Amino acid sequence: MRHLIDPTDLSSSELQEIIDLALDIIANRQKYADVCRGCKLATLFYEPSTRTRLSFTSAMMELGGNVIGFSDAMNSSVSKGETVADTTKVINCFADIIAMRHSVEGAPLVSALNSRTPVINAGDGSHAHPTQTLTDLLTIRRELGRLDNLTVGFCGDLKFGRTVHSLIKALARFKGIKIVLIAPEQLRLPSYMREEVCDKYGMDCREVSTIEEAIADLDVLYMTRVQKERFLDEDEYDRVKDCFVLTADKLRDAKPEMRILHPLPRVNEIALDVDADPRAAYFRQVENGKFVRMALMLKLLEWADMAEKDRGLIPEGTIRGKYRCSNRRCISNTENVESLFRPTADGKGCRCLYCESKPG
Ligand code: CP
Repeated sequence: MRHLIDPTDLSSSELQEIIDLALDIIANRQKYADVCRGCKLATLFYEPSTRTRLSFTSAMMELGGNVIGFSDAMNSSVSKGETVADTTKVINCFADIIAMRHSVEGAPLVSALNSRTPVINAGDGSHAHPTQTLTDLLTIRRELGRLDNLTVGFCGDLKFGRTVHSLIKALARFKGIKIVLIAPEQLRLPSYMREEVCDKYGMDCREVSTIEEAIADLDVLYMTRVQKERFLDEDEYDRVKDCFVLTADKLRDAKPEMRILHPLPRVNEIALDVDADPRAAYFRQVENGKFVRMALMLKLLEWADMAEKDRGLIPEGTIRGKYRCSNRRCISNTENVESLFRPTADGKGCRCLYCESKPG
């Protein structure tokens, strides 16, 4: 069985296969119109969504399949206390593939560990959002014609922005990637991303304090919303919410071929006067999300029965039952699941397998 919980669950060649399949779907829509007839997707969304849920729904419908699920967990038996593991075992009786979004980090991994069908992480807390990453990569490929030798600026909430974490992890595997981080002190990239991704892969990474300092060098500017729902203190949110606003005049020195991406929704970090600029790719990016999710579901369903495609969810060397996670939004602190930690790349510490935090 194969799942997509983290972008690194896909090898570079599998990532490429999915993007190539998405491109073929775009070019030959009719060819794929019926390939999932009789197949059911379950969308289990414990947290709000517009794009991800509806693009999964639209993707399965375009493939000829059906969709069941919930968009508000409080209307499901979750409100009576049903766990992620039990919910998954129940949904396994009804659907062939699951897409799960959850505010609790690590919930999709717990689902996958208990599932007889492929599970796709549709966003877990501040942790990861691998299908947004596939969307972003397909968009960059379609807009710029390549996925290597790129300078990518990440601007806004790099601490809580799960799309940023997943995209940086995926880009680390391509050649000639440089990243520029533009964030207020309070919203800087988490330490595990710096240590376990940027440093580990030797990514060229620099931090600047304004968009203007970086704009002329960028091939892609990845704007993000400050994630209000992750803040514990509203005053803290108010202090940083308007920290970076992209306006048309700030694009003066940008390359003509640079592209502006945003996972959306936007609040006010991109002024409306940017929308008319041909470099603004964020609404085209949304449609790419549907095509790449069609490709992903086709691949996971194809790989489900292939023994050679099996890949364990718990890596060798995992430390079981010894530590407690320091992250109170980790599923190991909200449900009764086994404590799992993996040793860090430098061998000096360990990180929670569900959310990548350190032991508490
Ligand atoms: N990009 C994204 O995840 O959007 P939604 O929250 O609307 O799904």
